Amino acid sequence: MDPSYPAGGAGGPAVEDGLPTVTEYRALRAAVGWPSPDDDVCRAALDGSVHGVLARGESGPVGMARLVGDGAMYLLIVDVVVHPDHRGAGLGRRMVERLVQVAGARRVQLVAAAEVVPFYQRLGFTCEPSRLMAYRTLG
Ligand SMILES: CC(C)(COP(=O)(O)OP(=O)(O)OC[C@H]1O[C@@H](n2cnc3c(N)ncnc32)[C@H](O)[C@@H]1OP(=O)(O)O)[C@@H](O)C(=O)NCCC(=O)NCCS
Repeated sequence: MDPSYPAGGAGGPAVEDGLPTVTEYRALRAAVGWPSPDDDVCRAALDGSVHGVLARGESGPVGMARLVGDGAMYLLIVDVVVHPDHRGAGLGRRMVERLVQVAGARRVQLVAAAEVVPFYQRLGFTCEPSRLMAYRTLG
């Protein structure tokens, strides 16, 4: 990863390349009501990332987002989280924009909850007709 990616916005949390620790990962997910699997599963998930980005506040990460996939044909943005105390300051936008920048010319996909579709549309994502299907649910 490129730790030199410049932070944007003066004074607020810095957006930088990197992955959260397992503890930070679980805490950020919990902050938006998402359950997490056991630590070893979280660790393996984070280790399997193609790229990660963090919004780092004074006392730790207040936001995160990851790019996962095979690095070539399939790249998926997951775990886009901004702590509720830090929303509306452009952190989500900057993190997603950084992952899209890292992907370069490669196609990037994501699964959006209905309420955040407008957030991604503002960033240039379009809805596709396919349906997400799952064999097992996470939790
Ligand atoms: C979605 C989320 C990451 C947005 O983070 P954020 O830092 O508040 O977003 P930003 O401040 O960067 O917003 C960027 C733009 O999108 C808009 N926006 C943000 N959330 C939005 C929403 N839910 N619906 C519509 N527009 C939204 C902002 O108003 C802003 O618009 P502007 O460019 O005209 O000013 C954050 O609300 C979050 O963590 N939600 C819970 C977790 C989640 O659902 N993640 C997505 C998983 S699919």
